[in-house]
Amino acid sequence: MTKPKILITGANGQIGQVLSVQLAKKYGKEQILRTDLAQNDDGLLPYKSLDVLDKSRMAQIVEQHQITQIYHLAALLSASGEKNIHKTWDINFNGLVHVLDVAKEFSVDRVFFPSSIAVYGSGFNKSFTAQNDFRNPSTMYGITKVAGESWGNYYWMKYGLDVRSIRYPGIIGYQSLPGGGTTDYAVDIFHEALKSEKYTCFLESATRLPMIYMDDAIRATIELMEASTENISVRTSYNLQGLSFTPAELAEEIRKHRPNFTIEYHPDFRQEIAAQWPEIMDDQLARNDWSWKPAFDLSEMTKDMILNLSKKYNKDYVEPN
Ligand code: SER
Repeated sequence: MTKPKILITGANGQIGQVLSVQLAKKYGKEQILRTDLAQNDDGLLPYKSLDVLDKSRMAQIVEQHQITQIYHLAALLSASGEKNIHKTWDINFNGLVHVLDVAKEFSVDRVFFPSSIAVYGSGFNKSFTAQNDFRNPSTMYGITKVAGESWGNYYWMKYGLDVRSIRYPGIIGYQSLPGGGTTDYAVDIFHEALKSEKYTCFLESATRLPMIYMDDAIRATIELMEASTENISVRTSYNLQGLSFTPAELAEEIRKHRPNFTIEYHPDFRQEIAAQWPEIMDDQLARNDWSWKPAFDLSEMTKDMILNLSKKYNKDYVEPN
């Protein structure tokens, strides 16, 4: 099998940083082209600056580097998206349309587009959200993801462009920081637990949300992209479940490692966003179609986060009792 030549947009974001390294390990660094807004990068992996709103530069890069797969990660997240809804629509939606058009024009084999739990909004079953439950998003971010899913599905049906997608839950990892999302608390809390042993949470203590450990999220993404075309039955976006917990449950798990850790709750506008999202996703189709199975539960995820962040912040790691 010939190796894919991969373009990543938004490569400096929370997922992009980790996914680029994983793809480079798997296929070789010469097969990867990271892109983002910054002019320059650390030089460890091939990099070019690219604004996804600049369609002609995108086309030029795809043609010049004979790109065969695109992981299109550039986007604004739910909370920052609410601060400028027109900009959010422009980057998230028009950026995707550029990717789809360029991929079609240059016969790119496969495109990955991340969707989100934010496609749901009201009038659906929060406690076990079915793949095709009602999607009525409450944020501009969610609106761009619903529209994006439909565009991906349309390009597949009309042009045979092989677009694949996952509705990511909140992603938790030690390697990179999220920015501007509603699920960001679940990463911030670990950094604060290690640095200052206290955290002020912007969600209410009992707000249950679907989450996933970074290792699982990256593995799911690559497994989906490697699955045989005939196995992919969902061309909008797959529901994906890793684990689900509330801020209070996460704090309790962290206290098993850091007994002095304390948490306070000062909910802000992000609470309203979270209140409209699923608690647990039904991901049966991902399990059936491409054998999805998460590896990390709450205690394993917490342990791995604390272990890795203890090294970063020069703290002793103590096994929980
Ligand atoms: N993690 C995202 C956010 O909080 C949801 O997809 O915006």
